[in-house]
Amino acid sequence: MNSQEIKILFARTVAEEARNVKPTVEADAGLPDFDGARTTAQKVEALMSRLTRGEKIDLLSGIDNMAIKGVARLSMPRVWNSDATSGVRNFGMGTAFPASIALTASWNRELVGDIAGAIGDECRATGVSILLGPGLNMYRVPTNGRNFEYMGEDPFLAGEMAVSYVKAVQGRGVMATVKHFACNNSEYDRHRMNSVVDERTLHEIYLEAFRRAVVKGGAMAVMTSYNLINGVRASENAYLLMDVLRGQWGFTGLIMSDWNAVYSVEDTIKGGLDLEMPGGRFLNRDTIGLLLREGRLSEEDVDGHVRRILGTVIEIGAYERPVVDASRQCRTKAHRLLARRAAEESVVLLKNEDDLLPLVPGRIRMIAVIGPNSRDTPTGGGGASYVEAEDSVSILEGLEREFGGVVQVLHVEDAAGCFSEADASVIRKADAVVACVGYNHVIESECYDRSWRLPDAQEELIRSACRLNPRTVVVVNAGGDYETESWLKRVPVLLQIFYLGVEGGSAVARIVSGRVNPSGKLPFTFARQWRDHPATGNYPKAPENTTQVLFSGPDVRVNGDSYSIKKRMSLRQEKWDIRYAEGIFHGYRFFDAYGVQPLFPFGFGLSYTRFELSHPEIKEKRVNAGEPVTLSISMRNTGSRVGLEVVQVYVRDVQSRLPRPRHELKQFAKVALDPVEEKRIELTIEPDAFRFYDADEHRWVMEPGEFEILVGTSSRALQSAGTVELGHACAEYLKGAAS
Ligand code: BGC
Repeated sequence: MNSQEIKILFARTVAEEARNVKPTVEADAGLPDFDGARTTAQKVEALMSRLTRGEKIDLLSGIDNMAIKGVARLSMPRVWNSDATSGVRNFGMGTAFPASIALTASWNRELVGDIAGAIGDECRATGVSILLGPGLNMYRVPTNGRNFEYMGEDPFLAGEMAVSYVKAVQGRGVMATVKHFACNNSEYDRHRMNSVVDERTLHEIYLEAFRRAVVKGGAMAVMTSYNLINGVRASENAYLLMDVLRGQWGFTGLIMSDWNAVYSVEDTIKGGLDLEMPGGRFLNRDTIGLLLREGRLSEEDVDGHVRRILGTVIEIGAYERPVVDASRQCRTKAHRLLARRAAEESVVLLKNEDDLLPLVPGRIRMIAVIGPNSRDTPTGGGGASYVEAEDSVSILEGLEREFGGVVQVLHVEDAAGCFSEADASVIRKADAVVACVGYNHVIESECYDRSWRLPDAQEELIRSACRLNPRTVVVVNAGGDYETESWLKRVPVLLQIFYLGVEGGSAVARIVSGRVNPSGKLPFTFARQWRDHPATGNYPKAPENTTQVLFSGPDVRVNGDSYSIKKRMSLRQEKWDIRYAEGIFHGYRFFDAYGVQPLFPFGFGLSYTRFELSHPEIKEKRVNAGEPVTLSISMRNTGSRVGLEVVQVYVRDVQSRLPRPRHELKQFAKVALDPVEEKRIELTIEPDAFRFYDADEHRWVMEPGEFEILVGTSSRALQSAGTVELGHACAEYLKGAAS
C-alpha cells in the first residue's frame, strides 16, 4: 500500500469508527443514590464509601472506546465522551460546524460561544457528557496535519477563544476537555516525537492558551498528548500535570490520556494522570493491584484519582439526569444557520486586486467554476474531529443557488490542469472564474503532516485558469498556509476558507456575491516561503516529504488493533528530538523581531469596505502592576457597505532585562459598523498583559517601567496609542500571580 492509499483507508476507517460507536443509553439504568448528600464533595464521599477497591480501579480507565465505566451495582451509569470541537461526531450525525481554525479566524468570542453552546446542546441530545475538545496546540509549522483543529499561533487569541468555547459548552452541562497537553505541534511520528522546549517558551507560548482555558474558562478536563516533552511522556509528565496544571493553576478537574497514549503503569499513575483512554491496558486491577501489594502505590493515591473523576462527573450533572436530554435536538435548522453565519465570519479575504470581488449579480452574466474542491468541498479536516456532514453545500451548489437565474454558473472539469478546447472557451468567455482548490480530510488530517505545496499540481490548474481568464478568484481549503510563490502573483483574488462545515458552500457564495462582507482575520502568519517559518529549520523532513509518516506506530488503526502492551512499552523508550529552537520568537513574534516580511501578517484580512481608526487614548497614564489599563479609540466605516472589523491591541515592553517580542496581542474586539457610522470603542487590557516568564525564578514576573500600547487592524497595521507607566506590583496581585 502506498502512503496515499493508506491515508484514504485511514480516513474511511475513522469515518466508520465514528458511525459505529453506539452509546448504550440505558434508559432504565437508574441513577446513584447519594444518601441525601448536597455538595459535590459530599456526593463523591457517598459513592467512595460504597465502591470496592476493584470498582475504584475500574474507574481509572475507559470502556467501549468512548465512555467512563459505569458501576451497575450502584446504579452509576456510563458517562459518554465524543469528539469534538466542530461538532458531535461519535453518535450518529451532528451538525458539522466550521473547524476550530476557522472559528478562530472570526475573532468573534460571542460567535464561538454560540457555536459551542449549540454543540453542547447536540451533546446533551445524544447522551454525551464529555466533549473531547477544544484543541489548543499552537500553530508552529504550516504542515501540521492538525492545524485546522487548533486555534492558531497566538496564545492570547487561542486562549480567549477557548475561554468562550469552554464556558458555553460547560454552561450546557457538558464537560469541555482541553487538549493535547502539551507541545503536540505536528503529527509526524507523534508517538516518538520529543518536543524540546525551554521553560520560558513553554509557559509564554505553548501552555498559555491552556492556562487561560483552565484558570479563566474553568475547563473541567484536560487530555494529555502522545508525544514526550523534554524527554518525559505527556501522560507521565509530573512537571506539567502536577507542578504546573494542578499546582500553579489550581486545576482540580479530570486529567485523561489521549487514546492509546499511556505507556506505563507506575509513572503514569504517579505522574498525575487520572483516566486511561480508551481502555485499561495499563491501569487495571492486575497492574494497580500489584503496585498496591508491593507498597509502591497507596490506596490514597488511587482514591485521589477516583475522587477527581467522580467529582467532575457529578459536577457536570451526569449522575443526576437521564443520559439523553430529550428536550434538546441535533441538526436543527437554527444550528445550520449558525454554522453558516460562523462560516461567513471565518472566511479571510487575502487579496482582492482592483476590487474584483464582489461579483455583483446583474453586473456579470457568467461564472466558470473549476477545481477539485468545487463539487467535493471538504467540510472538515480529517481524523478524530471529522464530523460527517448531512446534505453539505458545496461551493458549486452555493454559487448556483446564490446566482441562480440571473447569472450562468458553469462547472468546468479539468484533467490535471488541462482543459479541453470547449471548456477553455467557456473559461475565456466567463466574466469571472472561481477556482476551488486546497486540501481535504484525507490529505490534511490527524496522524500525519501534509505537504507545503498544494496537492495534485493544483498550481498548474490555477496558472492555466489565469492564462485563459485573468479574472480568477482562487478559493483555498487549508488548515494553515501553503506554497503560493509559484502562482499567487498571477491571481487577483485569494479567499482563504479553511474548512467551513456543512454550510461552507453557501457562505463562500454569499461572500463572492457581496451579500456578505468578509471579516475574517488570519490567526497565523502566512509566509512567503516555507523556510521563512522559524520552526521549519528544526522540522524533521523537507517540506515535500512531510506527508511521509511512520505507520508502524500505534496509530495504525487501519490494520486492526496493534496497540499491544509490549509494543507500547518498547515504544515508550523510542524518541527523536524536535527542538523548539526559535523559543519565544514564534509566529509573528519571529517575523517582527527578525525583520522577515510575511506574505500576509497575523491578524490580516480584507473587507469590501474601509475602516479608519483614530484618536486612540489611554485612560490611565500610570498603573500599579495588577491593575488593568483602558484604551479607547474611534472607528469609522468610510465605505458604502455594512462591515465588521477587528480592533487589535498589542503591547510592547519598552525596556526589559530579558529579550521580548516586539509586541504581543493582548486584546481584540470585533465591531460592526454601518456605512459612514463611527463608534468609540473601549477595550480593557488585563494586568497579565505586561508580564513575562522568568525561567531563573521559575515564575511570571512584572517589571516596572514603560509599556507602549499599539492598536490597529493587523499585527502590521498598528498605530501607537501612547505609553503607560507600570509601577510596582501590589502584594494582593503578586499572591495570585503565580498562575
Ligand atoms: C485524538 C484525540 C481524540 C481521540 C478520541 C485521538 O486519536 O488524538 O484528539 O479525542 O482520538 O477520538
